[in-house]
Amino acid sequence: MKKRIGVLLSGRGSNFEALADSVAAGRIPDAHIAIVIANREGTQGIERANARGIATKVIPSRGLEREAYDRQIVAVLREQQVDLVCLAGYMRLLSPYFIQCFPQRILNIHPSLLPTFPGLESQRQALEYGVKFAGCTVHFVDENLDAGPIILQAVVPVLDTDTSDTLSEKILREEHRIYSEAVKIILDGRFKIEGRRVIQLANQAAHR
Ligand code: GAR
Repeated sequence: MKKRIGVLLSGRGSNFEALADSVAAGRIPDAHIAIVIANREGTQGIERANARGIATKVIPSRGLEREAYDRQIVAVLREQQVDLVCLAGYMRLLSPYFIQCFPQRILNIHPSLLPTFPGLESQRQALEYGVKFAGCTVHFVDENLDAGPIILQAVVPVLDTDTSDTLSEKILREEHRIYSEAVKIILDGRFKIEGRRVIQLANQAAHR
């Protein structure tokens, strides 16, 4: 049976689109994006999902207490029998309740080489700090900000001529590539976690 992916987003949705392209092209085999949920009205991400005929739901988070909000999201993900939750530009911390409902089954993409530059505007933080290499990270999600075990990272050089925009663009291209690759690894179960280390396994020694 196809593995069911739930995507959570807050905005543009280019990482969602990259995942949807990978599913459609078979780069993430035997998978289906079951639902795309946004915590804001009027996002481009939801428009993109609608245009592809993927089921969507907007559940505004404004003014709601974290766990009360997450209970609504979890209810939808469960109703959709989601196997894996992918945060794709989802700008909210998850409650312990949410994390416990999907143990080792929530992934996030972040536009920096974690643990450097967590939080907002990571590309600008990297540029201002003066690092010569930046990049992106796909990691498991835990209760802390941008902090769970790392699945994949990709590096891009920072040039003297880079601006926040050009650096973001370069990083985004890598985000789109490694997010699909990480989702494939996790859905295949080809990994084990030792401490903080996510170790890829050959097919026969799968995780589940
Ligand atoms: C991406 O760069 C993603 O890594 C970042 O938001 C952008 C969303 O773009 N996420 C975070 O900063 C999460 N901490 P998208 O909506 O086009 O995928």
